[in-house]
Amino acid sequence: MEAELNRFAEEAAEKIAQCSTPNDILNARAQFLGKKSMLNGLFARLRELPAEERPAFGQLINTARGKLESLLASREQEIKSATWEAQAAVDFDSSMPGYSWQRGSFHPVSIVRRQIEEVFLGMGFEIAEGPEIEDEFHNFDALNTPADHPSRNLADTFYLQSGKLLRTQTSTVQIRVMESFKPPIRIISPGRCYRNDKPDPSHSPVFQQVEALVVDRGISMSDLQDTLQNFARAMFGPQVKSRIRPHFFPFTEPSAEMDISCVNCSGAGCRVCKNSGWLEMGGAGMVDPAVFKMVGIDPEIYTGFAFGLGIERIAMLKYDIPDMRILFENDIRMLAQFKGESL
Ligand code: PHE
Repeated sequence: MEAELNRFAEEAAEKIAQCSTPNDILNARAQFLGKKSMLNGLFARLRELPAEERPAFGQLINTARGKLESLLASREQEIKSATWEAQAAVDFDSSMPGYSWQRGSFHPVSIVRRQIEEVFLGMGFEIAEGPEIEDEFHNFDALNTPADHPSRNLADTFYLQSGKLLRTQTSTVQIRVMESFKPPIRIISPGRCYRNDKPDPSHSPVFQQVEALVVDRGISMSDLQDTLQNFARAMFGPQVKSRIRPHFFPFTEPSAEMDISCVNCSGAGCRVCKNSGWLEMGGAGMVDPAVFKMVGIDPEIYTGFAFGLGIERIAMLKYDIPDMRILFENDIRMLAQFKGESL
């Protein structure tokens, strides 16, 4: 009887291995483990054995049943996953259009910042960066700004409890670069600045500047004018003119303000330029010898120019945005206009 059981178990295992559909498994389960199965039959025939052999043989039948059950279960699992894979292969239609994900767009200030960087990179400048949380030394002292200068007031500058401050200008990076590198220096430094200003159409407590600094032997004011003119043309078109007017900054001497001819009316006078024909671009000047001394550059050997441009201002002109606050409110309808523009 034991030999019969073994033969049955072997045959059943072989058949189970040959099952290839869920239906085969169903039939095999009925055939080998069901009521009319040989296994059940053997149970019925336990009585034929001497009483003392019955428990041991009963055990053997149960073990065989357990083995077959687990064989059936694992074969069933194999068939299921194979059919799932086969089905997936049939279902996958490579010609079906994919999902189209909504893409974001770049912010106009980011776009313009990158355009400005490209223009200056093209002129041989490198990009330098500095921290937005600065110390008084880099924001004021080293820039030759006296202790009683009004820009140091709480009303103008955000001071932190640590005694540091949020930089009010990217001119801080001039100092950091000149502290670390010897001339010749030719860098721009774009980045955020902070001033204690109420938001209005042309002011924001957070804004971005691009600082430019060139230091070498024989750098003159005409290099500054030429750089400004080239930048204005590259940014706004070949017809744009530029000019500088006398001004004052503690860290440049002489100092100037930079204008370009109005990009809206080409100088004729309009709403955008308040009928002056010119648009203010930022401050500029020749690096003050006092600043050179602070960073250990000999003003007898080297001269340099620096200027600072407002990025929001340029973005507003380029994209005809009438109010700076629009750039910070980030209304999705405004941002959506820049869809597809790459950096
Ligand atoms: N840092 C000045 C400002 O924020 C601009 C400036 C930069 C002027 C470099 C001169 C030279 O107003």
